[in-house]
Amino acid sequence: MAVKYPISVTLTDRSKLATVDFSNIPFGKVISDHMFVADYDGKQWVNPRIEPYQNLSLAPSNLALHYGQSIFEGMKATKINGEPVLFRADQHARRLNLSAERMCMPAIPEDLFLQGLKMLVDLDRAFIPEADDHALYIRPMMFATDEYFGVHASEKYKFIIFTGPVGPYYPTPVRLWVEEVFTRAAQGGAGEAKCAGNYGSSLLPAQRAKKAGYDQVMWMDAVEKKYVQEVGTMNLFFVMDGKIITPATTGTILRGITRESFITLLKEWGYTVEDRLLSIAEIADAYWRGSLQECFGAGTAAVVSHISDITWRDRKLELSPVNEQNRPVAFRLKKHINRLRMGLEPDTHGWLSSCANSGILEFMDEKQQALHV
Ligand SMILES: Cc1ncc(COP(=O)(O)O)c(C=O)c1O
Repeated sequence: MAVKYPISVTLTDRSKLATVDFSNIPFGKVISDHMFVADYDGKQWVNPRIEPYQNLSLAPSNLALHYGQSIFEGMKATKINGEPVLFRADQHARRLNLSAERMCMPAIPEDLFLQGLKMLVDLDRAFIPEADDHALYIRPMMFATDEYFGVHASEKYKFIIFTGPVGPYYPTPVRLWVEEVFTRAAQGGAGEAKCAGNYGSSLLPAQRAKKAGYDQVMWMDAVEKKYVQEVGTMNLFFVMDGKIITPATTGTILRGITRESFITLLKEWGYTVEDRLLSIAEIADAYWRGSLQECFGAGTAAVVSHISDITWRDRKLELSPVNEQNRPVAFRLKKHINRLRMGLEPDTHGWLSSCANSGILEFMDEKQQALHV
């Protein structure tokens, strides 16, 4: 990889690696040794650096904390023949910049994002778990850093990437509640951006659904409360009447990168895929006619998550027990994507990018280089 940006590197002298129990990794709690940081000074991105993962010092008047100029991404790295690879890294960089545009924040140059990311993942490659359904989760984020308490767009920002090993996000099939009181986003809002506020406002409905015995809410459109949107951290797919239908991205839901990858694969495999408005009534009708075969969520964290049931008002749509025979589409996608990320399927779309030759080795002494496997 051509190294364009002078990224400085400070290595930790207290690695956490030995304390990680790779046979039992709670999602989101284990964080690797280093982070990549860059600052926006009002005109340009400066001081790109890799340093030990550590706390930040923020003023209480930090603008992001009050007015929500805070965006993020979620992506994954795995290993192929011992070398770290990223899944669709360029797409995540692009989506972060779309979120930035919506939230009135500066774009981060895609090549700076990718160079910092590859050096970071290469450096902390020992944190990439190799068991089935495991990966290194990568969290790029950007937030305002102006210290000011009036509503305006910040001039200064911080961009950070940190990582951590993860196992499955939803280890068991997911029970959904059709949410008709709260909504996630309306046309013209920020539903398509991966901004912090979208997640903050989803927590109360999710908590209420949990108390009632469900795992997640299925969001409906904000106007008619009729059309299916998405679920917490995943886009939805339905297999019904011999077709695969996924709700259209009309500006209110996240344009999932897993969703787009699955649509591409399914079409190549010869399935009829419809990317369109889909009402909950149409799904219920298919269920009562006995032709709702599968429902699953798709996302970076979730990969493929089987839906066990969907409760709409007082009616419960119970899907078939989860096994490969009942749910061939979901199983095929999950198997394919996992195999692809482990190098067991050819990468015909160029979705994987290697972190080899990231340039990190030159910052290590001989002993550190010898341990860098
Ligand atoms: C709200 C929401 N929808 C969908 C997704 C799935 O998107 P992706 O496949 O890009 O991870 C995510 C996860 O990022 C999400 O947070």
